[in-house]
Amino acid sequence: MEVNVSEVSSLDLIERIRAYWNEHIHDLAIAKHPVGSEGFFQDLTDYRFDKLRYLPNVVDFSGYAGKRVLEVGCGIGIDLVKFAEGKAEVTGIDLAEKSIELAKQNFSFAEVEGDFLRMNGEDMEFDDNSFDAVYAHGVIQYTANAGKMMKEIHRVLKPGGEAIMMVYNRISWLNFLSKIMKVELEHEDAPVLNKYSIGEFRELLSDFSHVKIIPERFPVKSKLHKGIKAVLYNEIFVNAFNLVPRFVVRPLGWHIMVFSYK
Ligand SMILES: C[S@@+](CC[C@H](N)C(=O)[O-])C[C@H]1O[C@@H](n2cnc3c(N)ncnc32)[C@H](O)[C@@H]1O
Repeated sequence: MEVNVSEVSSLDLIERIRAYWNEHIHDLAIAKHPVGSEGFFQDLTDYRFDKLRYLPNVVDFSGYAGKRVLEVGCGIGIDLVKFAEGKAEVTGIDLAEKSIELAKQNFSFAEVEGDFLRMNGEDMEFDDNSFDAVYAHGVIQYTANAGKMMKEIHRVLKPGGEAIMMVYNRISWLNFLSKIMKVELEHEDAPVLNKYSIGEFRELLSDFSHVKIIPERFPVKSKLHKGIKAVLYNEIFVNAFNLVPRFVVRPLGWHIMVFSYK
């Protein structure tokens, strides 16, 4: 039997990514309540929409009523709850079974409906042209083969459908700051963590007919970090940075938000 070595090593990498995300819940350090409790989901939701306060301004979570929305790499389902509360028909997939288990609990506390499946976003089990929108926030940078995931996202979208994605900007204030201050970014120990320039990421979007890119995520005070570096960051850097007009620093946003259409 012929064995394709690169296919085997790519599946091995996917397994390592799955194992990592089964052990690491995004932003877990901020939770005051036990994992899986109602308070836990509330803690992480509050923290997320404080840190990512830009998100509801650029993503109209309530604008997909009656539409089929797929979230690839849904984690514990915080954003997907918002789509579901806006009456979208939602499906969440994630490599990690722990994420799927927690996302289901999150939906049950929020009293909304959703379908959840443990699935690899690089090799989805959905038919072509199945969804009106696909959402992947903070996922493509952590997968083994970003090009493969992008092809899959495009394939499962209906013609005219929208893909909303976020990857990290290599040429950004946060990447520079973490290197200068020698403070590791979250999940820098993940098996894969890619950062892109806007141009590099645009190259992955060539199958889409229309692409809009908005760099976002500017400094807000950190609740996660402690010590002198955190004080300098919170009391000086955040205030000073936010004095600069946003249009000047816009290209340096840490999150490359992409809105693209099939
Ligand atoms: C940083 S977390 C983000 C979770 C969520 N999207 C959020 O913004 O909170 C990355 C997630 O992507 C998932 N992931 C990574 N590669 C994946 C893949 N190939 N298929 C499906 N999920 C994947 C991980 O299991 C993890 O839950």
